[in-house]
Amino acid sequence: MKKYVYTAVLLGLTWACSNNSQPPKEDSSAPVVEDNSLANSTSASAAAYDSIKGAGKFTNVELSATLDQKSVAAGKTVYDLKCAACHKLTDEKLVGPGWKGITKRKSPEWIMNFVTNTDEMIDKDPHAQAMLAVCMVRMPNQHLTDEETKDVFEFMRNNDSSK
Ligand code: HEC
Repeated sequence: MKKYVYTAVLLGLTWACSNNSQPPKEDSSAPVVEDNSLANSTSASAAAYDSIKGAGKFTNVELSATLDQKSVAAGKTVYDLKCAACHKLTDEKLVGPGWKGITKRKSPEWIMNFVTNTDEMIDKDPHAQAMLAVCMVRMPNQHLTDEETKDVFEFMRNNDSSK
Protein backbone atom coordinates (compact mmCIF):
# COMPACT_ATOMS: atom_id res chain seq x y z
CA MET A 1 0.00 0.00 0.00
CA LYS A 2 2.78 2.37 0.97
CA LYS A 3 4.46 1.58 -2.31
CA TYR A 4 1.36 2.58 -4.30
CA VAL A 5 1.15 5.91 -2.61
CA TYR A 6 4.80 6.50 -3.33
CA THR A 7 4.31 5.65 -7.03
CA ALA A 8 1.32 7.93 -7.23
CA VAL A 9 3.27 10.82 -5.80
CA LEU A 10 6.17 10.15 -8.16
CA LEU A 11 3.85 10.00 -11.15
CA GLY A 12 2.15 13.13 -9.98
CA LEU A 13 5.48 14.90 -9.89
CA THR A 14 6.55 13.71 -13.34
CA TRP A 15 3.21 14.67 -14.73
CA ALA A 16 3.43 18.08 -13.18
CA CYS A 17 6.75 18.67 -14.93
CA SER A 18 5.47 17.74 -18.35
CA ASN A 19 2.20 19.60 -17.96
CA ASN A 20 2.70 22.89 -16.18
CA SER A 21 -0.82 24.15 -16.51
CA GLN A 22 -2.25 21.31 -14.41
CA PRO A 23 -1.56 21.01 -10.69
CA PRO A 24 -0.40 17.55 -9.60
CA LYS A 25 -3.08 15.29 -8.29
CA GLU A 26 -2.76 14.91 -4.54
CA ASP A 27 -5.49 12.36 -3.99
CA SER A 28 -3.51 9.14 -3.68
CA SER A 29 -6.69 7.05 -3.77
CA ALA A 30 -7.21 7.89 -7.44
CA PRO A 31 -6.20 5.02 -9.71
CA VAL A 32 -2.74 5.65 -11.07
CA VAL A 33 -3.53 4.05 -14.43
CA GLU A 34 -6.21 6.60 -15.17
CA ASP A 35 -3.71 9.41 -14.79
CA ASN A 36 -1.53 7.84 -17.42
CA SER A 37 -4.24 7.23 -19.99
CA LEU A 38 -5.38 10.81 -19.58
CA ALA A 39 -1.91 12.10 -20.39
CA ASN A 40 -1.62 9.77 -23.38
CA SER A 41 -4.97 10.55 -24.89
CA THR A 42 -4.30 14.28 -24.83
CA SER A 43 -1.27 13.93 -27.06
CA ALA A 44 -2.87 11.36 -29.36
CA SER A 45 -6.08 13.26 -29.98
CA ALA A 46 -4.17 16.31 -31.15
CA ALA A 47 -3.72 14.54 -34.51
CA ALA A 48 -2.37 17.20 -36.78
CA TYR A 49 -4.60 18.76 -39.40
CA ASP A 50 -2.50 20.60 -41.95
CA SER A 51 -4.29 23.89 -42.57
CA ILE A 52 -1.80 24.85 -45.28
CA LYS A 53 -2.21 21.77 -47.46
CA GLY A 54 -5.58 20.59 -46.24
CA ALA A 55 -6.61 16.93 -46.13
CA GLY A 56 -6.69 14.65 -49.15
CA LYS A 57 -4.67 12.94 -51.82
CA PHE A 58 -2.70 15.97 -53.03
CA THR A 59 0.27 16.11 -50.70
CA ASN A 60 2.92 17.59 -52.95
CA VAL A 61 2.07 19.53 -56.11
CA GLU A 62 4.89 20.76 -58.31
CA LEU A 63 3.94 23.78 -60.36
CA SER A 64 5.33 24.35 -63.83
CA ALA A 65 7.08 27.69 -64.34
CA THR A 66 4.82 28.59 -67.24
CA LEU A 67 1.13 27.92 -67.65
CA ASP A 68 0.06 24.90 -69.65
CA GLN A 69 -2.40 26.52 -72.06
CA LYS A 70 -4.00 23.22 -73.09
CA SER A 71 -4.75 22.52 -69.44
CA VAL A 72 -6.06 26.07 -68.95
CA ALA A 73 -8.50 25.54 -71.84
CA ALA A 74 -9.63 22.17 -70.49
CA GLY A 75 -10.04 23.80 -67.07
CA LYS A 76 -12.27 26.49 -68.55
CA THR A 77 -14.57 23.78 -69.91
CA VAL A 78 -14.79 22.20 -66.44
CA TYR A 79 -15.42 25.63 -64.91
CA ASP A 80 -18.21 26.49 -67.38
CA LEU A 81 -19.95 23.17 -66.81
CA LYS A 82 -19.49 22.53 -63.10
CA CYS A 83 -18.38 25.64 -61.22
CA ALA A 84 -19.63 28.79 -62.96
CA ALA A 85 -23.11 28.43 -61.48
CA CYS A 86 -21.65 29.24 -58.05
CA HIS A 87 -18.26 30.90 -58.59
CA LYS A 88 -17.36 34.12 -60.39
CA LEU A 89 -13.86 34.82 -61.67
CA THR A 90 -13.75 38.20 -59.95
CA ASP A 91 -13.56 38.64 -56.18
CA GLU A 92 -17.32 38.92 -56.02
CA LYS A 93 -19.32 36.28 -54.17
CA LEU A 94 -22.06 34.42 -56.04
CA VAL A 95 -23.18 31.28 -54.18
CA GLY A 96 -19.55 30.59 -53.28
CA PRO A 97 -16.58 32.97 -53.02
CA GLY A 98 -15.18 34.62 -56.17
CA TRP A 99 -12.01 33.00 -57.44
CA LYS A 100 -9.87 36.09 -58.01
CA GLY A 101 -6.67 35.69 -55.99
CA ILE A 102 -7.47 32.20 -54.74
CA THR A 103 -4.14 30.78 -55.96
CA LYS A 104 -2.35 33.49 -53.96
CA ARG A 105 -4.38 32.92 -50.82
CA LYS A 106 -4.31 29.12 -50.76
CA SER A 107 -1.72 26.49 -51.62
CA PRO A 108 -2.20 24.29 -54.73
CA GLU A 109 -2.58 21.27 -52.44
CA TRP A 110 -5.28 23.00 -50.38
CA ILE A 111 -7.28 23.97 -53.45
CA MET A 112 -7.07 20.56 -55.11
CA ASN A 113 -7.84 18.73 -51.89
CA PHE A 114 -10.83 20.99 -51.29
CA VAL A 115 -12.14 20.27 -54.79
CA THR A 116 -11.74 16.48 -54.54
CA ASN A 117 -12.30 15.96 -50.81
CA THR A 118 -14.85 18.68 -50.20
CA ASP A 119 -16.80 17.18 -47.30
CA GLU A 120 -13.85 16.31 -45.09
CA MET A 121 -12.27 19.69 -45.76
CA ILE A 122 -15.43 21.59 -44.87
CA ASP A 123 -15.64 19.56 -41.66
CA LYS A 124 -12.01 20.09 -40.66
CA ASP A 125 -10.65 23.26 -42.19
CA PRO A 126 -11.05 26.54 -40.28
CA HIS A 127 -10.98 28.63 -43.47
CA ALA A 128 -13.59 26.45 -45.20
CA GLN A 129 -15.79 26.73 -42.13
CA ALA A 130 -15.46 30.49 -42.14
CA MET A 131 -16.47 30.51 -45.82
CA LEU A 132 -19.41 28.30 -45.04
CA ALA A 133 -20.54 30.74 -42.38
CA VAL A 134 -20.42 33.58 -44.92
CA CYS A 135 -21.96 31.72 -47.88
CA MET A 136 -24.49 29.68 -45.87
CA VAL A 137 -24.22 26.92 -48.46
CA ARG A 138 -22.11 23.79 -48.24
CA MET A 139 -20.30 23.23 -51.50
CA PRO A 140 -21.36 19.88 -52.96
CA ASN A 141 -18.53 17.63 -54.14
CA GLN A 142 -18.38 17.97 -57.93
CA HIS A 143 -16.69 14.58 -58.43
CA LEU A 144 -13.92 15.77 -60.69
CA THR A 145 -11.21 13.38 -61.88
CA ASP A 146 -7.64 14.21 -60.85
CA GLU A 147 -7.00 15.43 -64.39
CA GLU A 148 -10.01 17.76 -64.34
CA THR A 149 -8.92 19.02 -60.92
CA LYS A 150 -5.45 19.88 -62.22
CA ASP A 151 -6.97 21.57 -65.27
CA VAL A 152 -9.35 23.70 -63.23
CA PHE A 153 -6.46 24.67 -60.96
CA GLU A 154 -4.40 25.71 -64.02
CA PHE A 155 -7.42 27.74 -65.12
CA MET A 156 -7.45 29.48 -61.69
CA ARG A 157 -3.74 30.21 -62.02
CA ASN A 158 -4.39 31.75 -65.41
CA ASN A 159 -7.20 33.82 -63.94
CA ASP A 160 -4.78 35.13 -61.30
CA SER A 161 -1.88 35.89 -63.59
CA SER A 162 -1.58 39.63 -64.20
CA LYS A 163 -2.23 40.65 -67.76
C1 HEC B 1 -23.65 24.68 -55.70
C2 HEC B 1 -22.69 25.71 -55.65
C3 HEC B 1 -21.24 25.37 -55.91
C4 HEC B 1 -20.67 24.73 -57.00
C5 HEC B 1 -21.38 24.12 -58.20
C6 HEC B 1 -19.24 24.77 -56.80
N1 HEC B 1 -18.94 25.39 -55.62
FE1 HEC B 1 -17.09 25.75 -54.87
N2 HEC B 1 -17.90 26.59 -53.20
C7 HEC B 1 -19.25 26.76 -52.99
C8 HEC B 1 -19.43 27.37 -51.69
C9 HEC B 1 -20.79 27.73 -51.08
C10 HEC B 1 -18.16 27.55 -51.14
C11 HEC B 1 -17.78 28.15 -49.78
C12 HEC B 1 -18.46 27.48 -48.63
C13 HEC B 1 -17.92 26.13 -48.32
O1 HEC B 1 -16.81 26.04 -47.80
O2 HEC B 1 -18.66 25.17 -48.58
C14 HEC B 1 -17.21 27.07 -52.13
C15 HEC B 1 -15.83 27.12 -51.99
C16 HEC B 1 -14.92 26.75 -52.96
C17 HEC B 1 -13.50 26.94 -52.88
C18 HEC B 1 -12.76 27.65 -51.73
C19 HEC B 1 -12.84 29.12 -52.06
C20 HEC B 1 -12.13 30.03 -51.12
O3 HEC B 1 -11.99 31.23 -51.44
O4 HEC B 1 -11.75 29.58 -50.05
C21 HEC B 1 -12.95 26.40 -54.01
C22 HEC B 1 -11.47 26.33 -54.37
C23 HEC B 1 -14.03 25.88 -54.79
N3 HEC B 1 -15.21 26.12 -54.14
C24 HEC B 1 -13.87 25.24 -56.01
C25 HEC B 1 -14.93 24.80 -56.80
C26 HEC B 1 -14.74 24.13 -58.08
C27 HEC B 1 -13.41 23.82 -58.72
C28 HEC B 1 -15.99 23.88 -58.57
C29 HEC B 1 -16.36 23.20 -59.88
C30 HEC B 1 -15.75 21.93 -60.16
C31 HEC B 1 -16.95 24.35 -57.57
N4 HEC B 1 -16.26 24.92 -56.53
C32 HEC B 1 -18.33 24.25 -57.70
C33 HEC B 1 -20.27 26.45 -53.84
C34 HEC B 1 -20.12 25.77 -55.04
